[in-house]
Order: sequence, then C-alpha cells, then structure tokens
Amino acid sequence: MKIMKAVFPVAGMGTRFLPATKASPKEMLPLVDKPLIQYVVEEAVESGITEIIMVTGRNKNAIEDHFDRSVELELLLESKNDSTRLEMIRKISDMCDFSYIRQKEPKGLGHAIARARNLVDDQPFAVLLGDDIIHSVNKPVIGQLGQIADKMESTVLAVERVPEDKVSSYGIIESEQVEQRLSRVKSMVEKPSVDQAPSNLAIIGRYILTPEIFDYIDKTEPDANGEIQLTSALNMMLADSKIYGYEFEGKRYDAGDKLGFLKATVECALRNPELGPSFRNYLSGIKL
Ligand code: G1P
Repeated sequence: MKIMKAVFPVAGMGTRFLPATKASPKEMLPLVDKPLIQYVVEEAVESGITEIIMVTGRNKNAIEDHFDRSVELELLLESKNDSTRLEMIRKISDMCDFSYIRQKEPKGLGHAIARARNLVDDQPFAVLLGDDIIHSVNKPVIGQLGQIADKMESTVLAVERVPEDKVSSYGIIESEQVEQRLSRVKSMVEKPSVDQAPSNLAIIGRYILTPEIFDYIDKTEPDANGEIQLTSALNMMLADSKIYGYEFEGKRYDAGDKLGFLKATVECALRNPELGPSFRNYLSGIKL
C-alpha cells in the first residue's frame, strides 16, 4: 500500500484567528519563519508523498503562490549572489507536485475531501489537516500511519488522548487495543459532549484513507450545521471495513487555536538552532 497522494483541506475560514485571517489564509500564519502549511507539506514529502491536492476556497491564493516559483524574488537574490536564500525558496516549489481544487461552500471535512475524488483516483491516500502541527523526532506522523496502513491493509487514523474538557472539540473513537499504540475502532462520534464520549481518544488531523471512503461520504447526510462530517462517513464504513487508530509518536500542537499556536511558536523557536539559546535566555528573564 504505497501512499503517493495527499489531500490537504485548506478552505476553512480561520474564524478562530480573526482579524489576522480576514484577508490572509490561516495556513499562511508563520511559526517563526515558515508558514504553518509548509510544515505540513514537508511532513508529507518526508513521508514519500509526491502529489499534494489542496482543496482551497476563496482568499487562499497566497497558498498557491507560496508553492509556485517566485521569479522576481529569484532574480533579485541571484543578482545579490544570495545562494542560501535562493536555494531555500526554490526548494519550496520543487518539493512535489501540487494541484488545487475549490470547495465552493464550507460544508464540512467530508465534503472537502470528496472534492478531490477525481484527482485521487482509485488508490489509498493521506489526508493532513493544517491546524495540527506535529513535531516528531524520528518518522513524520503521516509516514508512521502509512506504515501501519500497509501492515494492516486498512484505513488508519491518528489518535491521541485528550483531557476530558477537550473531547467535545474532536472526533472520538470507541476502540479495543490490539497492539501497543494500535487500536481497532468499533465506533466513532464527532464532537460528543463529555458524558456521551465513548473515551478520550481523539482523532487528530492525519488519516490514511482507502478510496471506498468516497462512496460513504456520498451517502452521509449533513449534520445539524449542514456539514458533511468525515467521522460520520468513516463510522458508516465500519460496517464493511476495518479501521485502526494509531497513537502516533510526536508532539502535537493545535495551531488553529490561539494558545496552541503560541505554544507551537515558542517551542519551535526554542528548537531552532540559531534562535534557541538566546530565546531561552530571554524567556528566563521576562518580567511583566
Ligand atoms: C476535524 C474533524 C475531527 C478531528 C479534528 C482534528 O475537526 O472533524 O473529527 O478530531 O479535525 O483536528 P475540526 O477541528 O476541523 O472542526
């Protein structure tokens, strides 16, 4: 089960980050010096993905431009003999192939993924959500999931235990553990209340899906908010196929949330070889 294609649903309006996201995509907010979306693209590419399909919306042109050549900038850097920066920005557009398709209305994650059906074609594929930034020391998370999907020949979801007061922000699985870190999913529910949540194992924004999912998305009714949820489609698919949850290795930040974004920024700066030592020094001396 070799995973070559990845779908990035990036049509969301970023309302949690207004006013910063009024005219700029939330995916372009920088963690230190790189936009959020670049971290996620790099994770996919390091995991062997060669084609990324972005499901975009209006106001998202900056994403497309970021992964294209920037001829004027390249000429300027060339004229200054700044080969370090030249190489850095050229690499961004050479990382892999990108295609773009629009989700014209915000109708949920399932609906967004279904837009990519023709581009994905009939093969297993990855889905990566840009709000979840995951720092891993060894293998990137989508690569970890790909390995499990290959072994189990099934759909695999990244899962993580979350505090009780957070279960209502995630898809939550009911499962039985089959191996260390690996659980077989029995059912799942999108954003349940604490008393209705079957566990605290939350679905995080990394998935390896098989192409059958598209038929289940087609059969999924919109929820009370008019959104077609991927979780509901996956839940339906459980009647016919096995699905696994994998407790990945890595530290995840909810960069779609202000506090999560700040934590990601601080820790990313601390890990940065150039900034880290002086930033740590600065933090230890902060007085407000
Ligand atoms: C989506 C999914 C949810 C999942 C979450 C992970 O929700 O619908 O099941 O737990 O991503 O980040 P969203 O955060 O887009 O509302």
